[in-house]
Amino acid sequence: MIAIGCDHAGVEMKKAIIEALSAKGFEFRDLGTDGEPCDYPDMAEKLCKEVLAGNCEKGILICGTGIGMSIAANKFKGIRAALCSDSFSTRFTRLHNNANVMCMGARTLGQGLACELAEIFLTTEFEGGRHQRRIDLISAIEAKN
Ligand code: RB5
Repeated sequence: MIAIGCDHAGVEMKKAIIEALSAKGFEFRDLGTDGEPCDYPDMAEKLCKEVLAGNCEKGILICGTGIGMSIAANKFKGIRAALCSDSFSTRFTRLHNNANVMCMGARTLGQGLACELAEIFLTTEFEGGRHQRRIDLISAIEAKN
């Protein structure tokens, strides 16, 4: 199950992603908003709690730029949120950073690209190995600060 949420800027992009990737077999828990104005930190909090509780394996957050969502989501211990706008970074944030939340900008990306990036994010596995040690170092920073 994949959690997906947006603020009012991201409603159409969220719908496009759900439609395109449901057709490929992915299941989504749609946390809103469906159009009513919504503050992106509230949506980031809602989604990150779903991921951290283990109800959803990963999350996708959309706002105007993706930046506000990524800043808010990265305040949660155990969340590694990546702002994604190209395929290389999207692939490598899974391979090397084991990102569990992707953030995208509805005002900066076309819907076709966003759907493609979401598919890359959801189908690329973490490489582990030396990269796990670096993830552990991030967790140690979280624990200390
Ligand atoms: C909302 O207008 C806008 O500020 C928000 O969607 C996002 O871009 C914030 O980072």
